[in-house]
This record gives sequence, C-alpha cells and structure tokens, in this order.
Amino acid sequence: MIITKSSREIALMKEAGRVVGLVFKTLEAQIKPGMSTLDIDSIVEKTMLENGCIPAEKGYYGYPASACVSVNDTLIHGIPSNKIIIREGDIVSVDIVATYKGYSADACRTFKVGTLTERAHRIVDITKQAFFEALKAVKVGNHIGDISETIQKFVESHGYNVVREYTGHGIGAHMHEDPSIPNYGKAGTGPLITPNIALCIEPMVLEGRKDVRTLGDGWTVKSKDGKLTAHYENTVIVTNDGYEIITMYEGEE
Ligand code: MF3
Ligand code: CO
Repeated sequence: MIITKSSREIALMKEAGRVVGLVFKTLEAQIKPGMSTLDIDSIVEKTMLENGCIPAEKGYYGYPASACVSVNDTLIHGIPSNKIIIREGDIVSVDIVATYKGYSADACRTFKVGTLTERAHRIVDITKQAFFEALKAVKVGNHIGDISETIQKFVESHGYNVVREYTGHGIGAHMHEDPSIPNYGKAGTGPLITPNIALCIEPMVLEGRKDVRTLGDGWTVKSKDGKLTAHYENTVIVTNDGYEIITMYEGEE
C-alpha cells in the first residue's frame, strides 16, 4: 500500500531532507584522502544530531553505523571502518537517512576523491544522470515502471548494468515503504504515480557484470567481478504538477 502524505508529514520530511543536504554539503568540503570511512560516519552522525535529526540507519535491522560508505567496487551498504582508508582516485558513495520527528528522507552521493581515472569519472556521472533522466518520468498518471525503464535504458545504453537485487522505494514514517522502484523494468507497468507520495529513486550501477555478492559481515555488497560501482539517490515528493526533490542542498548541482 502506497501511503499518501499530509502537508504536515511533507513538511517534516522536508526538514529531514534539508539536513540530509547539509550533511552532503559538509562532506563535500571535508572528504579527503587519508580519512577512514568511519571518519565519514562520524561527520554524518554529528551533523544529523546537531541539526535535530536521528541517523535512521543506525540499528536498522541491526545495521551498526549512521551511514553506508561504499568505496569503488562496493555498491551499497559498506559498513564504516577505521581500517578502510579513502585514497586519491577513489569513488566513495555515502548513503544516509535522517529522521525528523518520526519522518525520514534518504539520499546518496558518490563523491570523487582527488584526481580520478576517466573510467571512475564516467560511472559516477552516468549514475547521477540516470537519476535526472528518471525524474522526467515522475508525473501524476505515469507508472512506476516508467521510472524503472528510463533508468535501465539510460544506464545500459552507456554500456553499464543496473543491479537487480536492490531497488528504490517509498519513504515516510518508515525508511522503506511501498512502492518498490526497481532500476529495471517496463514502462506502463507497476503502480500509478499519484500526488503527495514520496519516492526514493536510486540508480545503483555496475561497470561490469550485473552480479553482486554480500560479504560475511552480512551487509557489504560488492560487484562480483571487482569492477567499479556507483550510486545516486534523492527523496522526491510527487506534486500535482510535477515533483520536488527534498534532499539536495541549495546550490548543489
Ligand atoms: N539508505 C538505504 C536505502 O537507500 C538503506 C540502508 S540500509 C541500512 O534504502 F541498514 F543501512 F539502513
Ligand atoms: Co533508499
């Protein structure tokens, strides 16, 4: 069941989203070679708490940290560690969820650290562009499958693959609500897009084969072939005449 949000609920989600944006702005300025992924986690947690939000990932199904920090061949759910050091040329995705007064916003950025190879630049850019392509399908009266097909076609047309095992989702009083939003599928299928629903649209892209494996920690998801991966996500509120992205900071491109 897809839960339509009241204007009060949307206002609370926007405040959560504002803090998510602030975290990205802070990380953009601070992420550097030599930092550990646990250092990133500390910045995320501190920024959220100082701004009246709770880092919702901590404790979610036992997840041990405030952020998922996934480097290079790690696609999603990288557990922050003081042993994982960020190096020049890495691509580092930081996936976070802030909760304000019971309502959540979820987003991810893949940060480029220092000078990158052309390969690394390209997968980050295509992944982000896939999100913005998908936004064109976010219209009242369209179907969720329109979003899915747009992402898959765009990503595959650039020679990359989308993951099959993980999807975007609705959000609100819970981190994961209906509908499921796969990064692959067919236009005209799936639930209808209606006003005042909240969607997390999140292309998760693999440079090589689409297969992934989960490490023994039960969380970390990597590309099976060890090739690069990237992830980009925003929480989007559907409006009568379009949409509103609630997890970008002012001036963010
Ligand atoms: N933020 C992720 C998403 O995009 C979920 C993270 S799982 C958690 O859906 F356990 F870390 F919370
Ligand atoms: Co999400």
